[in-house]
Amino acid sequence: MRGREWPIGVFDSGVGGLTVLRALRDRLPEESFLYLGDTARLPYGSKSPETVARYAEQASRILVERGIKALVIACNTASAVALERLRERFGPLPVIGVVEPGAAAACEAAPRGRILVIATEGTVRGGAYERAIRALRPEAAVISAPCPLFVALAEEGWVDGPIAAAVARRYLDPFLIKEEIECVVLGCTHFPALRGVLAEVVGPGVALVDSAESAARVVAAQLAEVGLRAPAGQEGGLRFLATDAPQRFQRVGALFLGEAIGGVELVDL
Ligand code: DGL
Repeated sequence: MRGREWPIGVFDSGVGGLTVLRALRDRLPEESFLYLGDTARLPYGSKSPETVARYAEQASRILVERGIKALVIACNTASAVALERLRERFGPLPVIGVVEPGAAAACEAAPRGRILVIATEGTVRGGAYERAIRALRPEAAVISAPCPLFVALAEEGWVDGPIAAAVARRYLDPFLIKEEIECVVLGCTHFPALRGVLAEVVGPGVALVDSAESAARVVAAQLAEVGLRAPAGQEGGLRFLATDAPQRFQRVGALFLGEAIGGVELVDL
């Protein structure tokens, strides 16, 4: 039987999901978290939906076997293709993806519904964001653009400076010039790391939104609904697993999480 003091499982292909973990920590400081970065198989964004769904299931399974009370898919690519499959496999465990929360944040930030979604190739190809946004706002004008190099820049820790800025301009300028974009959705959990550069490129009139905070709100609400919020006064904790290069994960991950990462256990899926 799952207990209130159990950790929440969180996974991504790499360090990107730590942007979601950070928001979860801010909202739920008394909770413990077990995070897996599937660094051996990153990137997910250029792989087929079948492969990503299989990887997502394997990543989830190891977290479930360790004992978690909820599972957060802190990866848009995996959320887009595997949310239903993971709910089927691991239900009644609450399984929360990041696409719907991101779509909700976008609708709040775009009064006229003119939205640009930037994401991995896999997320763009599947159209999950368009569907999620249109479910909330049928008249929205949604454009999606794949920006796969942002994942590599983020994993490398090159999140500011001239190289990141040049890549961002190359990807975004065509849309910003032609379309009256009100809001850009950072539809990949790696992208918030480049927020500073992206804000400069899109300019002050365009909002940048990501799913981290709204996903954290959904997690808090779902845990409360099933009576599984951590007991008041519990001291939250963090544990990390990675499928490759744990020292690298520790070093780069600290930038994403905004705090030092104590130790990372190497695991094989
Ligand atoms: N961070 C992931 C996402 O949100 C995927 C990055 C990748 O592995 O391509 O889509």
